Amino acid sequence: MATPLAKATPHAPMRFAILASGRGSNAMALLDAFESGFIPAHVGVVISNKADAEVLSKAAARGYATQLIEHRGKTRAAHEQEVLACLRKQRIDHILLAGYMRIVSADFLREFSGKVLNIHPALLPDFPGLHAAEQQWQAGRKVVGATVHFVDAGVDTGQVILQGSLIARGDESADALAHRLLHEVEHLIYPRAVRLFLERMSYNEKDNTQ
Ligand code: GRF
Repeated sequence: MATPLAKATPHAPMRFAILASGRGSNAMALLDAFESGFIPAHVGVVISNKADAEVLSKAAARGYATQLIEHRGKTRAAHEQEVLACLRKQRIDHILLAGYMRIVSADFLREFSGKVLNIHPALLPDFPGLHAAEQQWQAGRKVVGATVHFVDAGVDTGQVILQGSLIARGDESADALAHRLLHEVEHLIYPRAVRLFLERMSYNEKDNTQ
């Protein structure tokens, strides 16, 4: 008699870490999406390099494990080793950078190749680097936007996953535009990009087993 085929065991939900350096509004939008099940995965830890980053208290208040790993006074390599140790301890599969004001090195990325996502407040490849929302305003762009992309060793050069845009009003300040971009675009596209990323991964897995 033929042996029945073993049932595919669905793997345990993926575990994400969120790395952020500031107020953490994108991190909170992501946590909303994890909690509602829109992103079918777990957040294992929220890490910040800044002691006064609001993201730490906001995430802790929602019951998440948080970790402060300060970079000050350490080499990039030493700091990254501490972050990697924390990620390993928490059995993290994927990393979401959300206003994380540190460049991650090629060494760090080697361990999480294709598994680190970032949000950037411009329509990449235009306006990489700092103050991108303001740069779009200064350039007088009519259509401004934000991008979720894979992180590679360059500055905002990784493959794009999802972009969203809005029409700039001629009369708004740079701050007002950045605020709208954050609330009307970034908070919407980041959770959707993460969901898309997971969907693509499971699609690729199925494709490989057929
Ligand atoms: C956002 O504009 C994000 O795109 C950029 O840094 C900002 C972080 O804001 N990378 P918040 O901490 O998520 O509120």
